[in-house]
Amino acid sequence: MNDQVMIISESDVKSLLTLQDAIHLTEKAYSELNAAQSMIFPAVREEIKEYQGIFGIKSSYLIAKKYIGLKAGGFWLGNAAKGKMNHQSTMMLFDAESGEPLCALSANYLTAVRTGAAGAVAAKSLARKDSKIIGIIGAGTQARTQLEGLLATFPVEQVLIYGKTEGKEELLAKEIIEKGYSAAICPSPQELAGQSDIIVTTTPSYAPVLHTSWVKDGAHINAIGSDTRGKRELVIDRKPDKMVCDLWVQSSIMGEFQHGITREELYAEIGEIVNNNKKGRENEGEITLFDSTGLSVQDLEVASFVYEAFKSKFV
Ligand SMILES: NC(=O)c1ccc[n+]([C@@H]2O[C@H](COP(=O)([O-])OP(=O)(O)OC[C@H]3O[C@@H](n4cnc5c(N)ncnc54)[C@H](O)[C@@H]3O)[C@@H](O)[C@H]2O)c1
Repeated sequence: MNDQVMIISESDVKSLLTLQDAIHLTEKAYSELNAAQSMIFPAVREEIKEYQGIFGIKSSYLIAKKYIGLKAGGFWLGNAAKGKMNHQSTMMLFDAESGEPLCALSANYLTAVRTGAAGAVAAKSLARKDSKIIGIIGAGTQARTQLEGLLATFPVEQVLIYGKTEGKEELLAKEIIEKGYSAAICPSPQELAGQSDIIVTTTPSYAPVLHTSWVKDGAHINAIGSDTRGKRELVIDRKPDKMVCDLWVQSSIMGEFQHGITREELYAEIGEIVNNNKKGRENEGEITLFDSTGLSVQDLEVASFVYEAFKSKFV
């Protein structure tokens, strides 16, 4: 074992990783997985009932970069009321050749940025290029990075927000307005869906918050919140023209497609589109849906980038 395992703090990760880096690395992660240049191992996802927690471990292997790694953590619903983040993650990176541990990284910011990047990468190939109105359901940590990713990718003019925690939606609207965009709070998710070009669902909900029949022709949906058995944000009562996920084996067990969607109904995994094996959006009227469950290869691509940047800067 190494004499010393490096520890990379939350503030170091923040200083070394930008959203644009994460977008590029997420695209690479999707592409490599589709080309069998990386491997994902079975995910662990278990409920810690006493503390309203979901604990998970996701791990994978980047073949060319020779890193193995894992992310452990999850989502504790009661944390926000105690002034802590609901989402909590820590990563470990290992040398694939020897199994030696290389570093431990704080991964709360890393997760939020790589998830925002996932939404941007999917929307880049599935949403209309002229998407101007973003509707976001949920106003927490992931909502912010989902928006960052879309603001960096589309000519956004207005953001519509729907949530259920009084004060949170107002705070998010204020932040968006300070960035120079128009923002409004919608009284219902139905109203939000009917007006938006891109709709993002980013709640920890176990009961649907959006019906696909509410969205207008040509809209794209990024379903981000469902990442655990039982969670659900959508009722798919109008079948989208293209249903895409990050990884079927995860999406069908812990993602949005666990609720009655079959493999035959899935159009593609996102890596197939990134690698040009399947087409993204083909016309202005299509309704498209992307379900993200979050992949370990995204975490590893980003964490190994941060590890290498940290070493070259500080070691
Ligand atoms: N796909 C991925 O890769 C990925 C990555 C990280 C987190 N997640 C998941 O995303 C979800 C959100 O995470 P977060 O860190 O932003 O949580 P958060 O607690 O910071 O924010 C959640 C927001 O959703 C709102 N909300 C809850 N139930 C709602 C409902 N029924 N209708 C409307 N709004 C509702 C809350 O008021 C809050 O604003 C969680 O389920 C988390 O596990 C997914």
